[in-house]
Amino acid sequence: MLVLGLESSCDDCSAAVVEEKHAGPVLRSLVRESQDAIHGPFGGVVPELAAREHLLQVRTVMAEALAKAGIGLRDLDRIAVTRGPGLVGSLLATFSASKAVAWHQGIPWVGVHHLLGHLNAARFAAPDLAFPALVLLVSGGHTHLYLAKDWMSLQLLQKTRDDAAGEAFDKTARMLNLGYPGGPVVDACAQTASRAGVPFTPPKFRDGKASWSFSGLKTGVKLRVERNPRLAGAGAEDPEVQELCRSLQDAIAAWLLKPIPELSRECGALSLIISGGVACNSRLRTEAEAMAARVGLRLAIPEPRLCTDNGAMIAAAGALLEPEPGPWSQNADADLKLGA
Ligand code: KG4
Ligand code: ZN
Repeated sequence: MLVLGLESSCDDCSAAVVEEKHAGPVLRSLVRESQDAIHGPFGGVVPELAAREHLLQVRTVMAEALAKAGIGLRDLDRIAVTRGPGLVGSLLATFSASKAVAWHQGIPWVGVHHLLGHLNAARFAAPDLAFPALVLLVSGGHTHLYLAKDWMSLQLLQKTRDDAAGEAFDKTARMLNLGYPGGPVVDACAQTASRAGVPFTPPKFRDGKASWSFSGLKTGVKLRVERNPRLAGAGAEDPEVQELCRSLQDAIAAWLLKPIPELSRECGALSLIISGGVACNSRLRTEAEAMAARVGLRLAIPEPRLCTDNGAMIAAAGALLEPEPGPWSQNADADLKLGA
């Protein structure tokens, strides 16, 4: 089955052709138009600008994905598109365009929950993964841990009480004037550090409930920059900036992984999936490998280009869903709930 997957829930416009085979999905093409240059000067995504840009990009990414896969619209067995959650103006660009194309060409069409997309990104490298699995979804908007009994279910176990882990990276990069988006630049800067700087203190929760908090990191970085204003303009070549990035990255990786061993025992989990933009992080990837080996979990982290938002993960999830019977009354939903 050949599936065209489309994703535009935030600031990336992406299309991919995926061939769903008996053994699992095979990536035939992946195209992604970044809007980093547009949002960079603002230090974050500007929803109206993102939506307008998606409208300009959607036709190109679709056509390029088909051309790179060496197929035409008529060869498609299905079109899958992100239905939500996300920025509604952004979502609508690929959602409406794909509906129109599918209707015109008579191609079965299905709307996909964005987080089921991130989960299914792991199917490319590990289609035979054993369940139940713990699923850590970490991005600019999510820091959530789920239990999955298969590729289509996510049951929430715990989530951040405040900022997402990706926000901590993005805001740190902003305070240090390192560029946008923050994750990749902080990661690169941390890797050049010869040692870690002063460690960040982990948050304590008085109610004893398991969860995460990352807003303290933002305050921690702010205080360090206030005490040493030179850091804000020193750049990625500066040893102190590198050490600060390394401490931040070490803290985020360690805090994210801390609850996994105990929860995996409690839930009888056999595998651990980590996905979402922050799953590109070098430190998180190596620490997760060491931890999974220690605890006896099979680890599945998609390759970096499939961790950040992309059309391939939406195609992979859409391949496992029933297409809409039509007429297609479904609409994009900025606040789409899992299981809806
Ligand atoms: O999944 P994603 O592409 O979009 C959302 O749904 O949010 O994730 C984007 C987030 C951003 O916060 C970005 O800074 C972060 O993923 N990110 C990283 C890395 N690459 C991207 N964070 C840490 N290390 C990275 N290498
Ligand atoms: Zn995402």
